[in-house]
Amino acid sequence: MKAVVFHDIGDVRLDDVAEPEIQEPTDAIIRITSSAICGTDLHMIRGTIPGMKPGLVLGHEAVGIVEETGSNVRNLKRGDRVVVPSTIACGSCSYCRTGYYAQCDTANPNGHQGGTSFFGGPEATGSFNGLQAEYGRIPFANVGLVKLPEEVSDDQAIMISDIFPTGYFGAEVSDGDTVTVWGCGPVGQFAILAAKLMGASRVIAVDCLPDRLEMAAQQGAEIVDFSRENPVAAIRELTGGIGTDRAIDAVGVDAVMPESGPGTEDLDRERHERESRQAAPERNPDGDLWVPGNAPTLVLDWAIDALAKAGTLGIIGVYPPNVHSFPIGKAMNRNVTVNMGNCNHRKYVPRIVEWVREGAVDPQEVLTHREPLIDVLEAYKSFDRRQAGWVKVALSA
Ligand SMILES: NC(=O)c1ccc[n+]([C@@H]2O[C@H](COP(=O)([O-])OP(=O)(O)OC[C@H]3O[C@@H](n4cnc5c(N)ncnc54)[C@H](O)[C@@H]3O)[C@@H](O)[C@H]2O)c1
Ligand SMILES: [Zn+2]
Ligand SMILES: [Zn+2]
Repeated sequence: MKAVVFHDIGDVRLDDVAEPEIQEPTDAIIRITSSAICGTDLHMIRGTIPGMKPGLVLGHEAVGIVEETGSNVRNLKRGDRVVVPSTIACGSCSYCRTGYYAQCDTANPNGHQGGTSFFGGPEATGSFNGLQAEYGRIPFANVGLVKLPEEVSDDQAIMISDIFPTGYFGAEVSDGDTVTVWGCGPVGQFAILAAKLMGASRVIAVDCLPDRLEMAAQQGAEIVDFSRENPVAAIRELTGGIGTDRAIDAVGVDAVMPESGPGTEDLDRERHERESRQAAPERNPDGDLWVPGNAPTLVLDWAIDALAKAGTLGIIGVYPPNVHSFPIGKAMNRNVTVNMGNCNHRKYVPRIVEWVREGAVDPQEVLTHREPLIDVLEAYKSFDRRQAGWVKVALSA
């Protein structure tokens, strides 16, 4: 079958690989009708999420049709249409039972301290083959697949595999909160949507890309372009000098700094460049492709500075274990609460499917491109370059 294979940092290819087979009684095999490219895939190719095994199939978002089930998958049958929650979880351990699917105690072959398992991720996550392929093996398929009703289309469902639940998980907004969403990529767009669903009174959205800011504005966010103004000053000005109650980091380690303008006023360029080299010691850019961010922790600085005193920060942007810097002193002295992590996808996927079925939300609005799997490499390049208009790319079989 055709699959997107990680060969090295800066080197992914569309290869012919063996079709997956059932290995455990709890496995299922699905024929993938739709997959997608995530900002997390870009971190791995740019070298900012290290530890990828050459030969691994990439991708952690999919919609498909069940082909075959192991003997202990009793809630699904061949022909069922399903969406795959990105993180792999057993559904039986104490973590899964309390909703911490991203910290499942069983799924990660690296043992109890292993942390999150997901499809198409680094060795620390278990090196499970990913879903940018024609077929996928789904471990613990009884919880690792969620059946789709007819009313929910593939284009809607693919957004529920990872990025809608992640935005929702990161939002954690209380009624009436003012919220800043840092980063208007696909995950940021869903953080905006989720904040509104949870009753945010105002959402301020920050990025430097006009098309992504425009999409945020379409959702009703007040937009701030950090390449034109100092975002901290702008947010304070927009909030009567107070800052917002909540901030959501939807950028992660590949954050960039402004080249010029008022946003550069307090920048410690040397520190950011040093941190960038530390975050991605191995890198393999090809011209303007696969370039790691040059300011890995800038969003954390800005987010703390633009928060109200006693505000809360949610971090859903991904950072690798070798990033150590966080504005601890500022956060501590302003009584800030921080929560963060990998999304517990399976906790949210069934309820989001239901909201979409009811018509309460339409996640398809964030999907800007649908490309055939055969053209995946060009799609990767357009998404990596953040080409105008390329917000979220789905890949169809
Ligand atoms: N926690 C989870 O479970 C989970 C799940 C999915 C994705 N993610 C992570 O969410 C993050 C976003 O994913 P995405 O697919 O939207 O990626 P993306 O790369 O498309 O979007 C990132 C956006 O941040 C903007 N940006 C860069 N520097 C900035 C800065 N200094 N200030 C404000 N904005 C800045 C970029 O212009 C871009 O629009 C990634 O780190 C991804 O790995 C986490
Ligand atoms: Zn993702
Ligand atoms: Zn578990």
